[in-house]
Amino acid sequence: MREVTLERIFTNPIVQKYLKRSGMAHAVKVANYAYDYAVSLGADIDLATKAALLHDVGHYTWYRDGVWDYDLYRENDIHAIKGAARAHKLLIHLGEDRQKAKEISVAVLLHTDSYLPEGMLELTPLQKAVKFADEADEEQGGKHHYKQMDYEQALSMIRHLDNKIDRNAYAGESHLA
Ligand SMILES: [Fe+2]
Repeated sequence: MREVTLERIFTNPIVQKYLKRSGMAHAVKVANYAYDYAVSLGADIDLATKAALLHDVGHYTWYRDGVWDYDLYRENDIHAIKGAARAHKLLIHLGEDRQKAKEISVAVLLHTDSYLPEGMLELTPLQKAVKFADEADEEQGGKHHYKQMDYEQALSMIRHLDNKIDRNAYAGESHLA
């Protein structure tokens, strides 16, 4: 059994505050996509889904006259940097293993290269899984941040994902034995 489950992260009040800001539906869907990408890329499913769930917790709101201003956001955004630091602090607070907390927060840091010259990064399979998962749910103009999902539905998807991770990890162990 893992030290920290997705459910523990998801139900944390601070995480909820950030997920409501950046889009709960998006975070949950990206966590689901990250599971599939991690399996196909041979990355750690526990780390990939946690990084995916937390990848946008660094978002700030870029409103102009009550409407989200995408240009303002593109010019000034550092959400991946802020998110990596927030994700790390949260994970340590929840009792996550320090090495895992570091890997997850680096994957959050590198999930977008919007603040770096293109082609500058060489990503590990874990970092790719999180980046591809985010891109899989992205919509033009940042619309993916506004998709709605109620708390109960999101929580049941997170629990389902936790079960899949535990089953997969267990199957992996028995396979090696
Ligand atoms: Fe995202």
